[in-house]
Amino acid sequence: MMYNMDMKIGIYGGTFDPIHNGHIAIAKAVKAELGLDSLIFVVAADPPHKDISGRTPALIRLKMVELALEDEDGLSVSDIEIQRGGVSYTVETLECFTRLHPGAELYFILGADMLSSFSSWYKPDKILELAKLAAVQRRGQMADIDSLASSIMSTLGGTVIATGVCGENVSSTEVRESVRDALPISGLVPYQVELFIYKNLLYAPEELKTVKTLLEERLDESRLEHSLLTAREAVMLAYKHGLNTQKARLCGLVHDCAKLRGPALESYMKRLAFKPNKDERQNTYMIHARLGALAAESEYGITDPEILNAIKLHTLGSPDMTPFDEVIFLADKLEPSREYRRIAHIRELAYENLDAAVAAVIRNNIAYNRSRKMPVHPSTFETLNAIELRAKTDTSNE
Ligand SMILES: [Fe+2]
Ligand SMILES: [Fe+2]
Repeated sequence: MMYNMDMKIGIYGGTFDPIHNGHIAIAKAVKAELGLDSLIFVVAADPPHKDISGRTPALIRLKMVELALEDEDGLSVSDIEIQRGGVSYTVETLECFTRLHPGAELYFILGADMLSSFSSWYKPDKILELAKLAAVQRRGQMADIDSLASSIMSTLGGTVIATGVCGENVSSTEVRESVRDALPISGLVPYQVELFIYKNLLYAPEELKTVKTLLEERLDESRLEHSLLTAREAVMLAYKHGLNTQKARLCGLVHDCAKLRGPALESYMKRLAFKPNKDERQNTYMIHARLGALAAESEYGITDPEILNAIKLHTLGSPDMTPFDEVIFLADKLEPSREYRRIAHIRELAYENLDAAVAAVIRNNIAYNRSRKMPVHPSTFETLNAIELRAKTDTSNE
């Protein structure tokens, strides 16, 4: 974007760990209320000491802001504090923007709760020379924004605007805690940020990170990404259907842990002393289901029978699948990177009726195989009939 001399530019600093819908709503509302030409998110650098345990590295936080703003007009992101490194004083950041956009009118956005301590910031008078302050309310922490604003202006000069903007009821802490607890975050962060968080297993418990490290050693990149996204879909589906979301996430993550080919598969089977049955020898794609359950137990230390069974059934399903089995079966077929005809419809169905969605997936697979003159596994029809019958019963009971 080209900047003119008399442009009005908003500067919105923060750690953004992660950026969430509340940040974006604030940015848009302030931009509209003050008639800003553009608004720049400034992502804070990592703290100077190496001890950043528990905090997401700056470049990853920056990436999430970039993803969040991809389709947002007039909102952009700056990495100047990250480039500079260490502690960034607001005054230095504003000096940078003054150099970059000479003549522009800068508005520094801050929470109303920060106004009360503003006079103790580093060089507050200089800040007020470089920019106008635009204060936004934080919901649940209503500060007396007007009197704070006038007391700053009378002691330090400059302009402090008490905007009518009120932050949404979302916080980065809430997002991080929801991810940790395997609760959906789809309403809290933009979709692309949500997928990024899952693909990189941000904010997840340590046990899951250990599982991911093991998977990285065995699976190729795209299979690993599929597994991480299956974990995401499993959380969403399990939550919707009142099942254990933490178990669903773990199961989604490991469901393809034995999805190997050729010599790698052979040696994995040998190592785990796995004997494929006749059926599996004829249909090698089936091997990773039963082998995966075995590997999940012996290599990943998972003993929960519900998880192991769902891994076993995730490829072909079975007539007596439990709702948990169905969630994993569907998460695998419906995760966000999957694309095929009718997927949008089946995804919708999955959030309403698990049986109906499983039946739709199976019918879809049969049609696909037939169109390519590929055989359909005989058990598929038995499973389809049983699940379809159940789906009908579900609907008639509603
Ligand atoms: Fe699989
Ligand atoms: Fe899979």
